[in-house]
Amino acid sequence: MRVLVTGGTGFIGRRLVKALLQRGRLPDALGREQEITQLCVSDVAEPPAPLPADPRIETAYGDFSLEGAAADLVTEDTGAVFHLAAIVSGQAEQEFDLGMRINLDGTRRLLEACRALPSPARLVFSSSVAAYGGDMPDVIEDATPATPQTSYGSQKVGSEYLISDYSRKGFVDGRSLRLPTIVVRAGKPNAAASSFASGIIREPLQGEEAICPVRAETGVWVLSPRAVVDCFLHAATLPAEAWGMNRTVALPGMTVTVGDMVAALAEVGGAQVASRVRFEPDPFIERIVYGWPSRFSVHRAAGMGFKADDGFKGIIEAFIQDDLGGHVAA
Ligand SMILES: NC(=O)c1ccc[n+]([C@@H]2O[C@H](COP(=O)([O-])OP(=O)(O)OC[C@H]3O[C@@H](n4cnc5c(N)ncnc54)[C@H](O)[C@@H]3O)[C@@H](O)[C@H]2O)c1
Repeated sequence: MRVLVTGGTGFIGRRLVKALLQRGRLPDALGREQEITQLCVSDVAEPPAPLPADPRIETAYGDFSLEGAAADLVTEDTGAVFHLAAIVSGQAEQEFDLGMRINLDGTRRLLEACRALPSPARLVFSSSVAAYGGDMPDVIEDATPATPQTSYGSQKVGSEYLISDYSRKGFVDGRSLRLPTIVVRAGKPNAAASSFASGIIREPLQGEEAICPVRAETGVWVLSPRAVVDCFLHAATLPAEAWGMNRTVALPGMTVTVGDMVAALAEVGGAQVASRVRFEPDPFIERIVYGWPSRFSVHRAAGMGFKADDGFKGIIEAFIQDDLGGHVAA
């Protein structure tokens, strides 16, 4: 079976590609486990570090959202699609047309390409808690309506609806995951408004100062890179009946305040490391971030077998192990 990962050289995409290669198998449209014989990594950008040297990998560098591109990516033998390519929150807010074209029109084009397959592929989509916003309850529940207040959030929810309807029609077997903020992001900061949540851990551990644009009491709903990759794989292995008429699920996570994060950083890396975080409020970032929910009581995902992390210290320790080669700049 061939598997396609859009956004496959991005932060989560790279990890997912590695995990798919390690797993080696996925269920097909009929739920039968099939060997992954080809893994197509689609992205506009080449990876920051080489992809694993594996004969199953095929790379397709280019814009998946351009006319005709998705049809080339979704070949007849494609049994599973992980759709991660996106313009992230800060950029989608500033570049409205670009965000609409890639995040919404691109999803529709990808779905149309899937529709042309002889049997419906499983498609796992990376949505976001940016689906919630505005006048929200204090605690988000499974039944809380999506009321996005950013273009990015609207594009994600619009894509969820498209995936749901294409699934209802039997054109695709879609599954949308509303991701918490994934922390700790490796590499360089990105244009996501939530970028600081990783920066305040990543930079100090490498001996650099980190500017935190929001207050210490700001709560963030987080999940680790390891856990989110497990959630993507789990989403692809669940039978269609597990989703029923609702093709979207809010993933589990944990609420931590920025203050909690810095305290955990001090415990793992020492006070000197934690002192490298400097608070400098940025009204543009604050406006976006304070509009996001931070407290959740979601049970559907747990009932379906999705799992969150055990604690924030463990997330930092995993980052040191996975991305810093075990090394901390004291
Ligand atoms: N990381 C998070 O905290 C988080 C939280 C919620 C949702 N998400 C969603 O998860 C997905 C992956 O996130 P990430 O953190 O890995 O982001 P990322 O920016 O690291 O990766 C996205 C990838 O998509 C690629 N891309 C963008 N436009 C493209 C196009 N037109 N054609 C082909 N490739 C294109 C980018 O080059 C990038 O490599 C995104 O859809 C994002 O919106 C992420």
